[in-house]
Order: sequence, then C-alpha cells, then structure tokens
Amino acid sequence: MKLRTLRASMPLCGKRVLMRIDANVPIKKGKAVDGPQGRIARSAVDIDWLMQRGARIIIMTHLGRPEGKFVSAYSVAPVAKRLSELLKTKVKTVRGIVDEKAQKAVTRLENGEVLLLENIRFHPLEKKDDPGFAKQLAALGDLYINDAFAVCHRPQTSVHAITKEIPSYAGPLLAQEVTILTKAMQHPRAPFVLVVGGVKMETKLPVIQRLLPRVSTVLVGGALAHAFLKAKGMEIGRSVYDKEGVAQAAQMLKEAGKKIILPEDVVVVSSLRKDAAKRVVGITEVEPKDRIVDIGPKTIERFLTLIREARTIVWNGPLGYCEIKPFAKGTFEIAEAIAKRTGKALTIVGGGDTGPVIEEGGFTDQYTLLSTGGGAMLTFLSGESMPPIDALEI
Ligand code: 3PG
Repeated sequence: MKLRTLRASMPLCGKRVLMRIDANVPIKKGKAVDGPQGRIARSAVDIDWLMQRGARIIIMTHLGRPEGKFVSAYSVAPVAKRLSELLKTKVKTVRGIVDEKAQKAVTRLENGEVLLLENIRFHPLEKKDDPGFAKQLAALGDLYINDAFAVCHRPQTSVHAITKEIPSYAGPLLAQEVTILTKAMQHPRAPFVLVVGGVKMETKLPVIQRLLPRVSTVLVGGALAHAFLKAKGMEIGRSVYDKEGVAQAAQMLKEAGKKIILPEDVVVVSSLRKDAAKRVVGITEVEPKDRIVDIGPKTIERFLTLIREARTIVWNGPLGYCEIKPFAKGTFEIAEAIAKRTGKALTIVGGGDTGPVIEEGGFTDQYTLLSTGGGAMLTFLSGESMPPIDALEI
C-alpha cells in the first residue's frame, strides 16, 4: 500500500494546513497522560516539521466519546497544554470547531503558528462521516493531513469524508505505521501469538475473530477475558464486562477454543482503591463480591512461556487495571517479556492504555513497532479495509 505523502519540496509557507491527529490519551486531574513516546508527543514531531516550514497549522483531534455534545471533561485544553510544552510555543485554542469563532481564529493565525480546534467529537456530525460537515472543515484549510492512524478504523468525517473535499495527504506518523505494519505482516513467522486485553470489546472481538485463522494462540486478559469467562458460565463477581460481547465470545470459544488461552488464576479485590487488600484466587474461586483486577502468577507464567517461544507477537490492551500501580504486575510482565523477544521475534505493540506501563519499564524503543493504534492496529493487521487510509492511497 502506497500513500500520498507531502514532499519536502512542497511550498508550505503561509499555507493553512488542517491536520488531524489522535490525541486521545487519558486525562488525569486535568493533565494529559502522555510520555515521551505518547500519542501527543509523536504527533508533535510532525507539527514541528510543519511549523519550521512556515505553515499555519490547524489541529483537529477527538478526546473520549462525548457523543456529539459539549462535555467539559473532554475539552482539549489539556492537549493544548501538552502540545505547547512539546513545541515550546503557545498553541492557541478556540471553543469552537467550524463556527464563526473558529473561522476568525484561523484567519488570525500567523505563519508557523498552531491552533487547536475544540474536540471534534463535540460536533454531532463527526461520527456520521458527513459531507456537509466535511465541507465546513475543509474550508478552514488549503490542504489536509491525516496523521491520526489510531482512529483510522473509524470512517468518520474528520478522517474520511474530508478527504473528498480538499487536497489530502498521509502525515509522516501515519505513513510510517502503515509501512511497517504492511511489511511486518506480509510473512508472519509461526508461532504467532496474539495478546489482547483491555476494554472496547465491540472493536476487538470481530478483529480477533478475523485474525484467528492466522494466529497460533490468543492470550486473553483484562476486561476482555471477563466476557469469555462469562461465556463459559463462570463467576466473575463485580468485574466489568461487555454484555453484548458474551455471545460472540461463546461463538469464538466454540470455533477455536483450543487457541484461546484464558486466565487460570486472577488477582481480586473488593474495591478499586490502590490500597485495597489483594487476593490471588484460582479462576473457579472468584466470589460474587470480587472484582478481577489483574491476571495471577500462574497465568503470567503460562503467558510468558508462550511468548518466549513465539516468532511473531502482537499485543494490544492491558491485562488488568494497569492504571492503578498495584494491579499492573501482569501488564508489566507481559510488556517486559515481549520486549525481550524483539530480534528473535517480530514484536508489534499498540494502544494508548498500556503506554504508561511501557514507558515506566523503559521498553518504548524495544519493540519492532510501538504503534499509536490499538483497535486501528488490530484492524489493519486483520486485513480489513480502513476507508480513511484507503482514501489516501496513490
Ligand atoms: C483509540 O483510542 O483507540 C482511538 O483514539 C479511537 O477511539 P474510539 O475507540 O473512541 O473511536
């Protein structure tokens, strides 16, 4: 797959460059959780490149799932703050997206300046891939760059419909991810181990299902495992799980049960506080009052054995509540074991939620590819078409 990219010789000085990034990172106490290899940090490299060329840069991103209306918790102010730190210049903000306020803010931009529009998902038509909204967005720029690989599995207005309205290019980060993932997956070597955890079941289950014929084993942890355990009729106490996903999980167990490895023991607590008393229990010993927060030591050992033998490893999603440190052991051990396999195996790791654990362990540069995408990475690897990327193909 070859994408239309910007050439270094292209004159950009004074041009209004509308750039879509994926700055969808956790926000904690009003601060964007984004380390040196985080989604915002990696986008900043490309924004800086445009600034050096004198472009007037208008940034769009989404944050969370505000469902088409203003939700102050999802305002992009913390993203602007993080970008300003990284770019060492004040990134301007505006409370609107395509309204008069936003249009005026664009008009006032000087060469080399950056403006961040408000959360694109505050607009009710963003998720509808709407041509009218796309035209309004396109009117803000002279050209459009998609550097948001992590949301390219969603055919939404700011990554898809917009490409029909304005000269459109793949940004460097998007192009790099697509190139490496394409090469990596041309001839994956066996054993091919897929490790999946976290939430967003509705995105991940269909992708896992498509990947099943290609992989040797699927190691499942985190909230995703709870739906599989539920499908087996097991007690998961008060652990979160996706009710809609249970039937599909049951179907997958029926079709490929031997390939799907579920936790055999887990860490449980009665409340999600970091000082809560933890118990390690066998998977049949979870009680109705328990919450599963991590995989247990026997499961870790089993997963590590399979990872140590693998020649291709793809990992997305935490194996427990890794944002709470005492519950991050399983996720950390998996992150470390995969990092150690790099070189002997092709290792592809993605998704925002595991970022802080990976950074804390110093593993960021120890994988064949650390993708910014979670669901997007899995979708790409499963071979499903991704309209926002297809639209940029030469
Ligand atoms: C992600 O975090 O995977 C992307 O930003 C997409 O977010 P979404 O699942 O809310 O569409």
